[in-house]
Amino acid sequence: MAYRWKNDLRERDVTPEPVWLDRRAVIAGAAGLGLLGAGGAARAETLEPNDWEDITSYNNYYEFGTDKGDPARHAHRLTIEPWNVRIDGLVDRPGDYAFEDIMAKMTVEERLYRFRCVEAWSMVVPWNGFELADLLAMAGVQSGAKYVAFETVLREDEMPGVAYPVLDWPYVEGLRLDEAMHPLTIMATGIYGRDIPKQNGAPLRLVVPWKYGFKSIKSVVRITLIDSEPPTSWNKANPREYGFYSNVNPEVDHPRWSQATERRIGGGLFSSRIPTPMFNGYGDEVASLYKGMDLKKQF
Ligand code: MTE
Repeated sequence: MAYRWKNDLRERDVTPEPVWLDRRAVIAGAAGLGLLGAGGAARAETLEPNDWEDITSYNNYYEFGTDKGDPARHAHRLTIEPWNVRIDGLVDRPGDYAFEDIMAKMTVEERLYRFRCVEAWSMVVPWNGFELADLLAMAGVQSGAKYVAFETVLREDEMPGVAYPVLDWPYVEGLRLDEAMHPLTIMATGIYGRDIPKQNGAPLRLVVPWKYGFKSIKSVVRITLIDSEPPTSWNKANPREYGFYSNVNPEVDHPRWSQATERRIGGGLFSSRIPTPMFNGYGDEVASLYKGMDLKKQF
């Protein structure tokens, strides 16, 4: 697979930002010399990660406010120790799992993913995380389970944004079980080898790279295996604009703007608008999940 790699590294060992920058220079150099060919050049572009500053200062986390800078300003108030994730519903071993106990069992890897917000901006983020499939296996998924529902922590005293009824709190999301089990789907616990900042969804948040960013729910406290499609926050708020699937699709425009192109956050060569690829560029890996579906209707 082009945009992921497995290396079984623990979080403390993963590539720090300065090394990333070196690697980036090498990739850019190779592209400049024409060593990568046409496809290679396109991939070199996607491998250009955004810097720490971009990733941690331009955020959507409405529980802390709706301005892009609000999460970085206010999320320090979120208490993340202790942290438990309740895993329940159609599982063999339901319970409240302590974050440390989860981490002791999971293999944390680096995953360099494109991240495409439904608002038509994007970044490239070097996440650290583990496959959601491994966490679900730990709890033991029962045969009747067909969907996975997720819930974000809700704390009125720590989250100034929840005083406003922008969404129906707590933030909830959902995936079909096969989407949840897909190897590209991770629970992220770090960025650039450091613990994931609170504004990005500490201590663990979902990342589904072929879907719009709002599916990637932050600061998860509950994961429930169920047999029917769960309600999701943005779909509840505006079903005409936000579907359950929300796969990145340049051919299905948002009712109020085009999804054909995106603005890559961050200065320099790649900051102009670029075409948005189907499934955010992960079609080879995930298109088969949606065989036979009308993606214009089931958007
Ligand atoms: N999760 C919660 N709990 N609350 C939110 O407001 N925003 C979503 C998603 N997860 C959101 C959330 C949206 S719209 C996007 S684009 C991404 O988080 C942004 O993630 P980032 O800030 O790490 O880039």
